[in-house]
Amino acid sequence: MNIFEEVESEVRSYCRSFPALFARGEGCRLYDQDNVAYLDFFAGAGALNYGHNPPAMKKRLLEYIEGNGITHGLDMATVAKGRFLQKFRDTILQPRNMHYKVQFPGPTGTNAVESALKLARKVTGREKILFFTQAFHGMTLGSLSISGNMFKREGAGLPLTNTICMPYDGYFGEEIDTIEYIDRMLESTGSGVDLPAAAIVETIQAEGGLNSASRQWLEGLQALCRKYDMLLIVDDIQAGCGRAGTFFSFENMNLEPDVVCLSKSISGYGLPMALCLIRPDLDIWEPGEHNGTFRGNNLAFITATEALHHWESGAFSADILRKGRLAEQRLRELEESFPELIDGVRGRGLLLGIVLRDKDMGSQLSKSCFQSRLLIETSGADSDVLKLLPPLIIDDESLEKGLDIIEDRVSAMAGNVLV
Ligand SMILES: Cc1ncc(COP(=O)(O)O)c(C=O)c1O
Repeated sequence: MNIFEEVESEVRSYCRSFPALFARGEGCRLYDQDNVAYLDFFAGAGALNYGHNPPAMKKRLLEYIEGNGITHGLDMATVAKGRFLQKFRDTILQPRNMHYKVQFPGPTGTNAVESALKLARKVTGREKILFFTQAFHGMTLGSLSISGNMFKREGAGLPLTNTICMPYDGYFGEEIDTIEYIDRMLESTGSGVDLPAAAIVETIQAEGGLNSASRQWLEGLQALCRKYDMLLIVDDIQAGCGRAGTFFSFENMNLEPDVVCLSKSISGYGLPMALCLIRPDLDIWEPGEHNGTFRGNNLAFITATEALHHWESGAFSADILRKGRLAEQRLRELEESFPELIDGVRGRGLLLGIVLRDKDMGSQLSKSCFQSRLLIETSGADSDVLKLLPPLIIDDESLEKGLDIIEDRVSAMAGNVLV
């Protein structure tokens, strides 16, 4: 492992949490150079919802490369991109009666967020962006300026301006309706709060400790956006693409965001790709006004098109929700067994977490799970939430196995043995 310590920057982090030399991946497992298998409840931080090297996508990709298909295309029209757009419209947008234009920003999540912020400012002529406590949207300056996490914000090294932080659903406890609070702040001529261009929200704060906003709260936020002429931007980069059980995390709610950001698992294969869905009348970009060299990752379009086959019927979604219920049930039982250690179960679908009472316990538990060959990370500003993010295609046996490991490690931590 010396080469990494000698040559790679100190900024590296996941190799510290998961200190193995990984050589290959298949489905919900990674294998190290000695062929030792690790169960993956991390799934590339949500970029591998369909697992490692899903066979159908790999086949399409190999055929495409073999045929000298275009790899890099900026935003030129290519067969691969055209097929993706067609499939996305037919499989995702039309069945949901959604009408959006698709913008391809640079290929990472933070690129999508940056372009959404720019567009909101351009459309409204306002400067401020409203964001929420515990939010995470990426590491470039615009995204950092709408992040709650102090450690990440400090990394910017300069003032993060033109944003307004407001309390997320439940931030002050169940009794306080934060939508009412935000409404007062926006309405009042004495609050010192300028009217924002947009509100950007995660329906589940995946990095921020797995807090979920209720349907009622999100609908309330949308009503506020309409009332004050702000855009509603949903950052579905981690909670979308099936993670919360449906393709978009806000399905079955009365929500029509003005902009939706997707990335992570949109390519289906872990290949870099991001997009913004834009309400057509807000698509006021001039040609080339927002661009970037790597917007046309055609290899990603190939796998993304294949990935969408999962969404042709409701079966995949039903299966994710079923496995989510199974996992949640097991976590609730764990909470009941160890109330002195666990302070709640959070999340939706297969984006679940257990809240640990002791702030240091999250990292210790993640480390302990790794020693039992389970990759699992923590979430929250204090890393106090153990975050389960298995690939959505995981089989029941592997899911149960991972949950057994978590149970065993929590039990060992408590100094107890489960009967
Ligand atoms: C909700 C959300 N938005 C944006 C991002 C940033 O994505 P990227 O790391 O690809 O820039 C992340 C990454 O974890 C995320 O979870």
